[in-house]
Amino acid sequence: MDDVKRQQILDLLVTSYNMEIETIANYIVNSEHLDGVRAQHIKQSLADDVAEELGHAQLLAKRIKTLDGNIPGSQSLSWTQTSLQPPADTLDVLSVIKGVVEAEKGAVDQYQKLIIAAGDDDPVTADLCTTIKADEEEHHRLFKGFLTDAQRWT
Ligand SMILES: [Fe+2]
Ligand SMILES: [Fe+2]
Repeated sequence: MDDVKRQQILDLLVTSYNMEIETIANYIVNSEHLDGVRAQHIKQSLADDVAEELGHAQLLAKRIKTLDGNIPGSQSLSWTQTSLQPPADTLDVLSVIKGVVEAEKGAVDQYQKLIIAAGDDDPVTADLCTTIKADEEEHHRLFKGFLTDAQRWT
């Protein structure tokens, strides 16, 4: 693999790492922040997801290091998940569900980019991102189901 390709893959891995860390931060908040009967299942699901997203972040950090890249410290990260900020109304479960669907879709798309970029040049990264993408697709599908349910609430 040439240096240009390696750097392209590293840039995508660092972006993914940043996304995972931000997701962890916002899932922790929203797993505690919401109130009400309708929130309980969502809160538990987000709390359970934190460990899985943390596992993704650790796998990405390891891969970045293996490819001789620089794993960003906290001050090199950027924060963009506007739709996952804890809502002012703690009963607004719907906005959190929508934020999760958006974040998981973003993750699925990002891993797809990595799989294509890595391809035959870097099958190890492609394999890693294929495995993680499957997890994100499951999360996305689960919360799409929650969204369908929540949209019928009155
Ligand atoms: Fe993840
Ligand atoms: Fe996820």
